[in-house]
Amino acid sequence: MAPIPWKREKGEESPALSKSMDQNLQLELRHMETAFETFRRTCPAYDATRKLDELRSTEYGRLDRDKQVYLDYTGAGLYAESQLKQHMELLSKEVLGNPHSKNLTSIRAIQYAERARKKVLQYFNADPDEYMVVFTNNASSALKLVGESYLFEMGGVFLLTSDNHNSVNGIREFAQAKGASVRYTGLRLPELYADETELREALDAACPGAHKLFAYPAQSNFSGVRHPLEWIGEAQDRGWDVLLDAASLAASSPLDLSRWHPDFVPISFYKIFGYPTGIGCLLVRRKAAAKLRRPWYGGGTIVFSSVSAFDHYLNPGPAGFEDGTADFLSYPAVEFGLDWIGSIGIDTIQTRVACLTGWLIDQLLLLYHRNGKPLVRLYGPQNMDRRGGTVQMNFFNASGAMIDCYTMEKLANQERISLRAGDHCNPGAREAAMGIRREDLVPCFSDKEHKTYEQFLNGLEGKMTGTLRASLGLASNFADVYRFIQFAKTFIDYRA
Ligand SMILES: Cc1ncc(COP(=O)(O)O)c(C=O)c1O
Repeated sequence: MAPIPWKREKGEESPALSKSMDQNLQLELRHMETAFETFRRTCPAYDATRKLDELRSTEYGRLDRDKQVYLDYTGAGLYAESQLKQHMELLSKEVLGNPHSKNLTSIRAIQYAERARKKVLQYFNADPDEYMVVFTNNASSALKLVGESYLFEMGGVFLLTSDNHNSVNGIREFAQAKGASVRYTGLRLPELYADETELREALDAACPGAHKLFAYPAQSNFSGVRHPLEWIGEAQDRGWDVLLDAASLAASSPLDLSRWHPDFVPISFYKIFGYPTGIGCLLVRRKAAAKLRRPWYGGGTIVFSSVSAFDHYLNPGPAGFEDGTADFLSYPAVEFGLDWIGSIGIDTIQTRVACLTGWLIDQLLLLYHRNGKPLVRLYGPQNMDRRGGTVQMNFFNASGAMIDCYTMEKLANQERISLRAGDHCNPGAREAAMGIRREDLVPCFSDKEHKTYEQFLNGLEGKMTGTLRASLGLASNFADVYRFIQFAKTFIDYRA
């Protein structure tokens, strides 16, 4: 049986209470064990992932030592202790210098950078003749790199699904500034799948010749929906460049770039293996990179620059996109992290996340108040069809009123359950899910320069209500989701 995160340690309660508490705990344990056996029968594939239970107690033991139920893997992945040890050991024996020089210590740092690039390509099964790896701070800076460098122009188009992270939405600022048009396609309710008819019309409608960029997430950070990777080829056949935001998908699923060939793929490594933070990459197809024009240059990006000749020569490789001195001490840690995931197997992680998410969704949908009203509303697919391990929801009291997600988050904190409340940096999916319309929002943005944020919120008249997200990842176990369901059940017949 998996460790129980909320199990009380001996001596934590008074002797008078401890006997009845022990009995309650025993009872709770038996209930969980029964639930676990039923779960295993409904999801037999889970048994093949049991090595993750061992790793949970060795490499991720801090979760249970600290009695944490961590359910925010879409926010950040968790690192294994051995990743840290390997990295610290390496740093304590190596002398690494700034990679922009050619002294011995710099050469060593460059070697680690090149090893890490090679490892990233191998991990995503990307042909080095087709793709290159540009190191960035995170997925957002990879996205900004595309936005600022893409050849947006009059007649060109930036097309997005409404389901996108804000760091993708932000690219529209660059597109509009250069005169390209920006178009969103809608989502289908209640699952929040993209409207494929509308999408195909938009892909067909754009004028031939002009530069066109289509951006979508491989997996939504809001609803967990996995949008079809087949769109990549369909869009490219129609002359589009494709930006596939894989920041969320890559955390618990494979992405095979020998099968799928998006032009730009932003990644944040901490989402996959937790450590280090502050380093990500842009996987970019070499032929798409040739179409990018950097709006500036800086230290590290150029081979040569002159003040008197007023010109510069950009580095033709990935370094041409890497501004300033990177977090070069972290390059070896990227290699360790990818090796770590490789040693577990990303397919194993995917299977575990799918089994646990399926159970979590089924259980949430079974929760009703005694008056027959549902306790939880899920936003996104209500089963495991085309989705990953991100579950978005709101809780409703027995009168049918929504319980504020921030209150829920605080109450979960008291139980040491880490969720995420808010708008999840994905306004399009949230607005669609919650029925917030354009006409509700547009007036609120008028005269925004002269409004405080509070005045701005008042204009929305409570329509900015957020949602609550639980997301699973490589160190999740049955006890985590069981504990969350127990927490959810405490709101049955809730009146506040
Ligand atoms: C789908 C998606 N894209 C982009 C990002 C931005 O990632 P970062 O904050 O690491 O730059 C996130 C972060 O949650 C995400 O989920």
